[in-house]
Amino acid sequence: MDVNVANYERIVFFTGAGMSAESGVPTYRGAGGIWKEYDYLTYACQDAFDRDPSAVWDFHNYRRELVGQCQPNLGHKLIAACEKNYPAMTIVTQNIDGLHQLAGSNSVIELHGSLWRVRDERIGVRKTTRDSPFDAQQSNGSFWRPDIVWFGDMLDEAVLSDAVRVISNCDLFVSIGTSAVVYPAAQLPLLAKDAGALCIEINPEETPLSSLYDLTLRTAASTALEQLCS
Ligand code: APR
Repeated sequence: MDVNVANYERIVFFTGAGMSAESGVPTYRGAGGIWKEYDYLTYACQDAFDRDPSAVWDFHNYRRELVGQCQPNLGHKLIAACEKNYPAMTIVTQNIDGLHQLAGSNSVIELHGSLWRVRDERIGVRKTTRDSPFDAQQSNGSFWRPDIVWFGDMLDEAVLSDAVRVISNCDLFVSIGTSAVVYPAAQLPLLAKDAGALCIEINPEETPLSSLYDLTLRTAASTALEQLCS
């Protein structure tokens, strides 16, 4: 099947950690995956933060340092270029690395928050900071919390409903580099299918959702995007 984004109007790129793998950002699962080395129960859940915010921040500051050195790859750039030609294009990402925005994309829905945002629920404040390391302890002793959806957290309702709206109305849905095992994100491709969109999966490996797709490209993100976007 020969597909080109030029033949579609309402395009959704649905991205996961594999999108940034070519930039040097480790994925979460599989070889070299973050959750192989770091136990999310110690570093990436609300209980861990309540128990030991310093340990959680050591992990997130390590990630800030690592991701802060990474640059958008060809795939991010091709998607950003696409947005210029197709205004009704949206990126729905599970990634917290900010690399789509760094590549120049504006229309980005971050399902799982951002490594570069922090919040203090007690005073109802969110802020963006690329400080690395970020000094998370405030003068009153309390800690800023990474504005990230951790294990066990609910997704932000407004963010999720934005994602549901654009995916339910798309005519081309391109999933890139996600293992499709984390919910509710993993359910979203079903909405595109129900909407009658052409559904494409880009992933070197099969996923539990592979059978849903009209076309699967078993290759690295940038290689497949060169094919779709040129
Ligand atoms: N191009 C495309 N896909 C790739 C590439 C690449 N160069 N390299 C790896 N992949 C694929 C892997 O085959 C795997 O299926 O990317 C996928 C990465 O899967 P995960 O590490 O599970 O990442 P993701 O699906 O984004 O994780 C979802 O889990 O821990 C949470 O909140 C975290 O947002 C994250 C969520």
